[in-house]
Amino acid sequence: MRIGIIGGGELSGSLAEWWKQAGHEVIVSSPADDRELTGIVTATDAAAFGEVVLFAPDWASAHTLIDATAGAMTGKPVLDATDPVVWSTDHGYERAVPIGHSGIETLSDWAPDAQWVKAFNTCSPGVLRRRRGRDPLLAEFICTDHRAARVAAARLIEDVGFAPFFAGGVTNACLTEAGGPLRLREVDVADATAVFAQAVSGGR
Ligand SMILES: NC(=O)c1ccc[n+]([C@@H]2O[C@H](COP(=O)([O-])OP(=O)(O)OC[C@H]3O[C@@H](n4cnc5c(N)ncnc54)[C@H](OP(=O)(O)O)[C@@H]3O)[C@@H](O)[C@H]2O)c1
Repeated sequence: MRIGIIGGGELSGSLAEWWKQAGHEVIVSSPADDRELTGIVTATDAAAFGEVVLFAPDWASAHTLIDATAGAMTGKPVLDATDPVVWSTDHGYERAVPIGHSGIETLSDWAPDAQWVKAFNTCSPGVLRRRRGRDPLLAEFICTDHRAARVAAARLIEDVGFAPFFAGGVTNACLTEAGGPLRLREVDVADATAVFAQAVSGGR
């Protein structure tokens, strides 16, 4: 599968390496300023290249990047790993979308023709490195309203050694994002049903 990655951070770098090892063709974008220095592609190039796209920039860059890439993402599964938070020197990390509206719903508002699927945003890259391909399998929660996006995300999660766990439509993505009960939860797949049910019912 061809995978275009938008956002060249730690998470993107790890997933790019693992997907290449699994036999996928992967390109990772970086900010345009770096292009001449490194030869790395822009976000628009990456979105056009991918049959599937991973969207993993910092949230402060998200809207600008969507404006540049929405056309190239039309009809494609787009895995959203972002957390909708921005840094403020006065308050530290602050939520950047209204309570009750997930980051992925905001991205869907900005690029409604992409097939958005929330994935890879509940665990840090360090946890993913430690758990990948090992038993007991780590659950990776996915939220989407699209069949093709669910299938693509599940395959790409399995290919790098985790267990996809379907956590409902994008309205449930609030559970997995900043402030949600599944955020930064390291959950064995055997416990995923119970942990998810508790999260939905408001517990932790
Ligand atoms: N790390 C975690 O524990 C974790 C876990 C779950 C979810 N997440 C979320 O996943 C996303 C990525 O996480 P991360 O830790 O990899 O974040 P990060 O290290 O902050 O990486 C974000 C990357 O996006 C890049 N970017 C900004 N503008 C761009 C552009 N025009 N084109 C291409 N790339 C651009 C940034 O480049 P510059 O550095 O050059 O600005 C940076 O490399 C974030 O939204 C984060 O909240 C992170």
